[in-house]
Amino acid sequence: MRAGLRSIPRAPGWLPGIGHMVPLSRGPLAFLRTLKDTGDLTRVHIGTMPVVFVNSLELAYEVMVTQAGRFHKGRFFDRLRSLVGDGLATSDGATHRQHRRLMQPMFHQRRIAGYAELMSARARELADSWVPGQTLDVGKVMAEWVVTTLAATMFSTDIGKPAAEVVQRNVPIIIENLLTRTVSPKILDGMPIPANRRFDAASRELHQVIDEVVAAVRQVGSDDQPDLLSTLIAARDADSGERLSDVEVREELGTILFAGTETTATTLAWAFHEIARHPDVESQLLAEIDAVVGTRPVTFADMARLPYLRRVIDEVARLHSVTLLMRRAIEPVEIGGVLLPVGTEVAFSLYALHQDARVYPEPQRFDPDRWLPGRGPEVRQAFLPFGAGNRKCIGDAFSWTEITIALATVLSRWQLRPATETAPREVAAAVPRANRLAMTVVPRRPSNTRG
Ligand code: HEM
Repeated sequence: MRAGLRSIPRAPGWLPGIGHMVPLSRGPLAFLRTLKDTGDLTRVHIGTMPVVFVNSLELAYEVMVTQAGRFHKGRFFDRLRSLVGDGLATSDGATHRQHRRLMQPMFHQRRIAGYAELMSARARELADSWVPGQTLDVGKVMAEWVVTTLAATMFSTDIGKPAAEVVQRNVPIIIENLLTRTVSPKILDGMPIPANRRFDAASRELHQVIDEVVAAVRQVGSDDQPDLLSTLIAARDADSGERLSDVEVREELGTILFAGTETTATTLAWAFHEIARHPDVESQLLAEIDAVVGTRPVTFADMARLPYLRRVIDEVARLHSVTLLMRRAIEPVEIGGVLLPVGTEVAFSLYALHQDARVYPEPQRFDPDRWLPGRGPEVRQAFLPFGAGNRKCIGDAFSWTEITIALATVLSRWQLRPATETAPREVAAAVPRANRLAMTVVPRRPSNTRG
């Protein structure tokens, strides 16, 4: 007989009525990392709601791929949907399948090669804006650069320009408050506190400007340089011939803005930190960039010519992966010998799974060479920074292109040095971020000054 939910061991730190709120609020990341000590499956109680945590990559792969049809996205996403609308990250079933098909062309290789030009130009602007000796708050600088670059890729035409500006102003406000709102009861949404007011005003302004741009593009069409917006508006379902409605376009654009900014910016910020902390990695990387790129602009074709940079980014992504993914069983499902009833909430942490010493020896060591051909982990499903299966990140190639171009461009001109002795602390977020990353920019060449 298959075991039931109650056979799954409960994580340490449980208290009646509040479940695991104490370890979750004291040190959520450390708590996630230790869950595997209780076994491949662990019960965690968020208040009174039990959540089954999957602590092995093999079983997480089952949830994401092999048994994906038995799951929807779950409670966290129900709440998220009520805050940001029903985009690709929150929709399920037939709607998700149809929208995914419609959105795929936005992320085709050919399109990404086009966005790469813009990314490269924007990376040069960023590198041009610094002066020798300047100290940067790297997390903040990367967050601003990523959101403005995504906005520029989304709304590259003249009609879209006003939207790009509103996005730059409002998306950071929404992201800052989104996590707190998602985990708070819905009833608190209406409370007239400053955080709620700022969130609501930013959402309203964002909706309004996207609606105006969508209407304008529908009316006059866009020029022949397709941006994310015009590709989405033009998308037509191959089977039904249907197109997305204005509201659907807005919700999908909003989803891309939330899903694609914080994750990419945090990965980039950690990359600068890890490279600076490992001089041997840095010198090998700079030698590769100098040989391949020199001082010219980085191109899409360079992506394939920078294998060491690729390994560095993979290693950054392994150590700094998405904190938490969630699902809910929509039919009874057997995982790891346990029968989960309909409605069971299931979660797993790519961040914790990618630091499992059973798969990655010395998991805390930053070692890009663990990705040398023939040396990676043995199991195929061991490295999943973008998830897998039908819900796999649609922006994976987009963000790898963006991160590669930003790093190669900046590092061809500057070295970033930690500005303080104190090591940064990890703070829970969509991808755990550094509490503070102050770094000083040092020119690599004598001529490398402003402009
Ligand atoms: C380093 C950067 C990024 C990381 C680590 C990342 C990670 C992920 C992961 C793990 C998922 C799967 C969620 C799940 O299974 O529940 C996901 C989904 C998604 N990501 Fe990303 N992402 C990144 C960048 C981007 C970018 C740049 C975009 C858009 C331009 C984007 C758009 C999305 C969307 C729309 C989904 C939902 C897909 C679906 O459910 O069909 N992401 N991302």
